[in-house]
Amino acid sequence: MNTLINLGYLVAAALFIFGLKGLGHPRTAVRGNLLGAVGMLLAVLLTLLDRHIISYEWILIGLAIGTAFGVILAVKVQMTQMPQLVALFNGFGGGASVLVAGAAIIVAVLHSRVPSTQMTVSTATSGLIGAVTFWGSLVAFAKLQGIISSRPAKIPVHQLWNVLLLLVSLGLGVLVVLQPSAVAWYWLLVAASSVLGVLMVMPIGGADMPVVISLLNSLSGLAAASTGFVLNNSVLIIAGALVGASGLILTSLMCKAMNRPLSNVLFGGVGATTIEAGDIYAGKVKSTSPEEVAMLLDGVQRVVIVPGYGMAVAQAQYAVRDLANLLESRGVEVLFGIHPVAGRMPGHMNVLLAEANVPYDKLKTMEQINPVLEQTDVAIVIGANDTVNPAAREENSGPLAGMPIIAVDKARTVIVIKRSLSPGFAGVPNPLFAADNTLMLFGDGKQMVVEVTEALQTG
Ligand code: TAP
Repeated sequence: MNTLINLGYLVAAALFIFGLKGLGHPRTAVRGNLLGAVGMLLAVLLTLLDRHIISYEWILIGLAIGTAFGVILAVKVQMTQMPQLVALFNGFGGGASVLVAGAAIIVAVLHSRVPSTQMTVSTATSGLIGAVTFWGSLVAFAKLQGIISSRPAKIPVHQLWNVLLLLVSLGLGVLVVLQPSAVAWYWLLVAASSVLGVLMVMPIGGADMPVVISLLNSLSGLAAASTGFVLNNSVLIIAGALVGASGLILTSLMCKAMNRPLSNVLFGGVGATTIEAGDIYAGKVKSTSPEEVAMLLDGVQRVVIVPGYGMAVAQAQYAVRDLANLLESRGVEVLFGIHPVAGRMPGHMNVLLAEANVPYDKLKTMEQINPVLEQTDVAIVIGANDTVNPAAREENSGPLAGMPIIAVDKARTVIVIKRSLSPGFAGVPNPLFAADNTLMLFGDGKQMVVEVTEALQTG
């Protein structure tokens, strides 16, 4: 039976790997997701065959509670709240690792078994990483959900406290290994690491949250892998390692996109911007109307549409597709410029535009679109702000300093569709709104695009 289970685990692991490969491209992502889900179902079913299971009732109760929560969240959570949800899921993963590893060591002690060094080392590792992940993720969730302020919060000599807590946690980890029968060491380790998790994420500002969530995702994988060593469960080790590695790759890609080393995101803290909205906007912002934009779009050769978080809020992706189709039917080349951190989660814009059936080959990365923008007649910015903010090129732009942007300001004319002059996620005023070649179309993203399309049709 054991051989059969392990062979099944191997198949599940292969499905995870093919699933991840599929997720690498929008065209194969749905199939990839399905493969991963089938792999997970197989892994769960095979684990349920374990002859050590003495009561299926508790498993069923857990399954029912988990399913109920899952269904409620899936139905209720808006697309724009996805990062919070991911943060919560990461946290639960870390919390589960803490509890499972803790339970395993308690069971060993209750049965007077002397746990192996592999078990004690991995239990301590699960406790440390799992508790940091759980509490760190809860803080990230609370910041993104607006339950606590998303501004960086520091206590005096913050990093010193972090180092101290890490050393205490490591010390307690050594005690878990040396005296596994004293279970209290384990829970003290969990307590110290929990405080560390809270203190690690508190000083990180809202704009850096995506990177932190991706890192916490990676940590939840490492905690799970480590719990796999506690339980001697190969599929948990493999799945955890895959989550750990892919989370780390995503973290590094996002840091690159924001032009910040990870150490700077975690420990740097960002200075506030010294750019004042009053100074840059005073008397220089020009607003326009849908009819005027329609006239501008008449007879142009190339239009680049740059979407951001506001397109998601307005659910304007279908209206944007209709406008793009109409322009194309009139011989205009329409391209989309997608910034790697536009929106509130990796691939946010790609998902929305794919939902509206915008062909993938029209979506260009920041590196691909920037050289094209200089030969573009009109750039339409819809609900993007930080990702097109030229202030990022200046050192005094605080959280945005050094972040590469989509250079819409290089286009001949820029139309910015948003409701007001309020800043984006990072809170930095945007000089693009006052640039000579910019016209502001104030209003809800979807409504404005619909009105421009109608004006084009009737004009
Ligand atoms: P943001 O800088 O967040 O700006 C979005 C803009 O959309 C706002 O200025 C808002 O202006 C406008 N808006 C909101 N609702 C709208 C509506 N119904 N119609 C039209 N406009 C609307 O967007 P971005 O350029 O996409 O930048 C993303 C930011 O989020 C970056 O700072 C990034 O670091 C951060 N972030 C990214 C992620 C990932 S992984 N993508 C995750 C979390 C955070 P008005 O209020 O004036 O309309």
